[in-house]
Amino acid sequence: MAKILCVSNQKGGVGKTTTTNILAMGLRKRGRRVLCVDFDPQGDLSFSLQADNRVEMQNSIYHALKGELLTVQTIQHTRLCDVIPSNMLLSGIELEFTGRGREFLLRNCLRPVLNLYDNILIDSPPALGILTVNAFTAADTVLMPVKPDIYSLQGLIQLNGTLEEVRKKSNPKIQAAGILITHFAARENASKVIQETARDLAGRLGIPLLQSTIRRSNEVTNAQIHREDAFAYAPRNKAVGDYGALVDELIGRGVL
Ligand SMILES: Nc1ncnc2c1ncn2[C@@H]1O[C@H](COP(=O)(O)OP(=O)(O)OP(=O)(O)O)[C@@H](O)[C@H]1O
Ligand SMILES: [Mg+2]
Repeated sequence: MAKILCVSNQKGGVGKTTTTNILAMGLRKRGRRVLCVDFDPQGDLSFSLQADNRVEMQNSIYHALKGELLTVQTIQHTRLCDVIPSNMLLSGIELEFTGRGREFLLRNCLRPVLNLYDNILIDSPPALGILTVNAFTAADTVLMPVKPDIYSLQGLIQLNGTLEEVRKKSNPKIQAAGILITHFAARENASKVIQETARDLAGRLGIPLLQSTIRRSNEVTNAQIHREDAFAYAPRNKAVGDYGALVDELIGRGVL
């Protein structure tokens, strides 16, 4: 049975897609069978994992959610990973599904493939709407990347509120995997202050602050631009090394 981790934060550009991608690469290196689900209409994860997500393809996560295709029919086996791609069609879900049970669409879609994988990673959009509620309803745990800025941290209170709502209504077993500080620069005061503030906030919210932090590095961006596995593209890069440590920490915590 696959463990399902969702990477989420309603703030844009905090490193959700990057984290989902590189975690998947790290798990594959450790011999895990991994499925990535792009659950963001922007389709960034599809791009970085070499999936074909052109609208005319008709085999995205949207088509699985609508029941037009079996879930297995939407899985692309790229050189990097198995991935269910997404594109702007996914944003239609908000308007097309308004009735009861709409929060269970993704969970129901993933059920038939749970036994094919060790890990399923879901990348989510920068919003707290029905897509994020679906991702939380389908997942076992939620990883929350934050950038070292105060607004990013304040957003966690709202994000945790959505998590608690979902726990009450559609997924009692959902747990916070932890807060992950990305774009970290140990020598900059802002990063240090935010780390302390994050520790306090994590304590108040009852969420773990992960030991691992991800340092800022352009190589992480370059690996994605070139649609490559970061561990192969920049094996000695410090941020890529940080992601390796993160995989180990999350495995150690039983999350992955
Ligand atoms: N550790 C890092 N160091 C430097 N740049 C990074 C790092 N992590 C991510 N980036 C870059 O920051 C930008 C935003 O990252 P990413 O797309 O992963 O964020 P996101 O939270 O998924 O954004 P969105 O909310 O739009 O989906 C990208 O250009 C990415 O390459
Ligand atoms: Mg993203």
